[in-house]
Amino acid sequence: MPKTMNAVSEKLPHLKTPLPGPEARRIVELDARYISPSYTRSYPLVARRAQGAIVEDVDGNRFLDFSAGIAVVAAGHCHPEIVEAIQRQAAELIHMSGTDFYYENMIELASKLEAITPGAGPKRTFFTNSGTEAIECALKLARWSTGRTHFIAFYNCFHGRTFGSLSLTSSKAVQRERMGPFLPGVVHAPYAYPYRCPMGAPPERCAEACLSQLENVILKTVVSPKDVAAIVVEPIQGEGGYVVPPKEFLQGLERLCRQHGILLVADEVQSGMGRTGRWWASEHFGITPDIVCTAKGIASGMPLGAVVARAEVMSWPPGAHASTFGGNPVCIAAALATMRLLENGLLENARKLGDYILGRLADWPQRHRLVGEVRGRGLMVGLELVRDKQSKERAAEERNAVVDAAFQRGLLILGCGPNTLRLMPPLVIDQEQADCALALLEESLTEVEKQ
Ligand SMILES: Cc1ncc(COP(=O)(O)O)c(C=O)c1O
Repeated sequence: MPKTMNAVSEKLPHLKTPLPGPEARRIVELDARYISPSYTRSYPLVARRAQGAIVEDVDGNRFLDFSAGIAVVAAGHCHPEIVEAIQRQAAELIHMSGTDFYYENMIELASKLEAITPGAGPKRTFFTNSGTEAIECALKLARWSTGRTHFIAFYNCFHGRTFGSLSLTSSKAVQRERMGPFLPGVVHAPYAYPYRCPMGAPPERCAEACLSQLENVILKTVVSPKDVAAIVVEPIQGEGGYVVPPKEFLQGLERLCRQHGILLVADEVQSGMGRTGRWWASEHFGITPDIVCTAKGIASGMPLGAVVARAEVMSWPPGAHASTFGGNPVCIAAALATMRLLENGLLENARKLGDYILGRLADWPQRHRLVGEVRGRGLMVGLELVRDKQSKERAAEERNAVVDAAFQRGLLILGCGPNTLRLMPPLVIDQEQADCALALLEESLTEVEKQ
């Protein structure tokens, strides 16, 4: 390990310069000249290297990372076992294309995914490079498998930015503005969001009201269930605001699927691979999707996605779908190492530290003027900020100010939805790091509340 890495391996943040420092400032200016302005940078963090939950910037400042590269580095940054697996595989076989040739680690990962995804019986896996490609695959597979044309997606959902997935995505208008027309056949339905029910129902009736709108209005007037290939749902909404639906909502969707021969597609791109303290968020709700899409955390930072479906669903013929890079051997090696680490403690750590963080945040809505609701599972935790507890007016600017104030203190967090803060650290954090993050977050929140 290079000597300079010692600085990074310290567990807690440490700032040496005002932020952004001189090097960061220089690079941010260059970036503005060369890089697409469509990226959504919240603050000027210019990373040089990282280890575990610590990121060091180009000026030598150390940050505690509660964003994990947008919920990606499950085993932490540059975990030695992931690095070793990548290096070993890269020295042996970097690429061959699983589309046209065979290699064994692809099969090994698929068999492991079969074992951990909900539902018994044989399954098959298609590998991609990203979350959005996993969704594209699921959409094509659902159409191919059912011979039907339509999809049900939900308000606030995020499934990606390529045309198929973007046609489902409805979390922010800017993501769709001037991009249409979209894939025909996508119908949006209300997602059970008890704190802010789109049907105007009280929290305890929200699931029932949203399901009724889908079953009794949408499937009776907008689209026949006989034309619906799949219901595509995030078991916990990510980018839309870390919204945790009631169990009955997801179970109701599963019931509708079974009743009408519709496939249930779970988008576990953000919520899967141990982030919620279980392999899949679907497990918290007791549902068994027909197709599971995953990406992000699966390979701790290497680009990989996977679509796991029951074998009788994924029975399309050669040529129906393929990918040059999807399931690259180096990414697969990183995924196998990630799974070993998850099995050997990280899954349990995500559950334990998630419970700890949620427990410590439980009284923040009483103690903090801006905190409307705290919600989440495992290390997928959201704090929704409001200006007024009664009217629930969204505190969007305040949310952005808290994200910025946290950065100024050495804590990396991101927002989601218009007014929610999300905590999604690497699954390797310990209690000292959780305490540090909560202390910095609370200071940041208090500072914004005083303004
Ligand atoms: C739930 C969900 N689905 C799909 C995607 C798209 O993944 P990617 O950015 O890898 O294409 C994301 C990304 O944030 C996501 O959160």
